[in-house]
Amino acid sequence: MQTANTKIKNLNIIKHPVIGENLAILRDKNQSFQYFRLAAKKITQILMYEASKNLPTMEKEVQTPLETTVTNVISDGIEIIVSPILRAGLVFEETVLELMPMAKIFHIGMYRNEETLKPVWYYNKLPEKLNCPEKTFVYITDPMLATGGSLYDAINLFIQKNVPPSQIKAVCIISAPEGIEHIHSQFSDVEIISAALDRSLNEKGYILPGLGDAGDRIFNTL
Ligand code: PRP
Ligand code: URA
Repeated sequence: MQTANTKIKNLNIIKHPVIGENLAILRDKNQSFQYFRLAAKKITQILMYEASKNLPTMEKEVQTPLETTVTNVISDGIEIIVSPILRAGLVFEETVLELMPMAKIFHIGMYRNEETLKPVWYYNKLPEKLNCPEKTFVYITDPMLATGGSLYDAINLFIQKNVPPSQIKAVCIISAPEGIEHIHSQFSDVEIISAALDRSLNEKGYILPGLGDAGDRIFNTL
């Protein structure tokens, strides 16, 4: 039994009993939409906690009721961007807003063409220019990393806007080896944080064993 995180270069598969518990709920084809969403949200909390733990910090003086102390807080010299890939990536949003209320949320809308498996864009809320790309830390959220086509396009968007690849993280619930390979063959410095590394893709590009169509199961559109 594997109890520690699997950490190969820029691939961080998070092992945690609460993740295991909730992955079992997500994978269960008979699970209700309501519990599916709840389980997904619990996993996003652990993933976002893990993903954000190396953000730059600064010291801040705080007056307790008893004395003055210093604590490390998130640096106010950086910009945090979270980009959920619509639709399924939205399942991270509440967690992100609770954990990092200072983050800017820029939605990216794309779906996979079922024949070609290529992403089709329909929305991009990113500004033309980022304020200070070298001080920007980006989290792209999407529960499923399958062929990696969607994530690749999303990462590329930030690379084009001059964000250093080492400051871009992809946060996923289930990842397939094919998708990881696709991303790291081009963007080896982008860290992928995932709750599970599954076996492979089937002939329709679905992750095995996976959980089926994440967007449909989150939004009750099966
Ligand atoms: C799913 C998923 C990813 C994409 C992954 O979205 O949420 O965005 O597929 O596949 P890829 O790695 O092969 O690109 P989908 O296209 O089903 O859209 P939806 O979230 O709107 O349901
Ligand atoms: N998108 C999903 O929602 N599920 C998969 O298994 C692959 C892509």
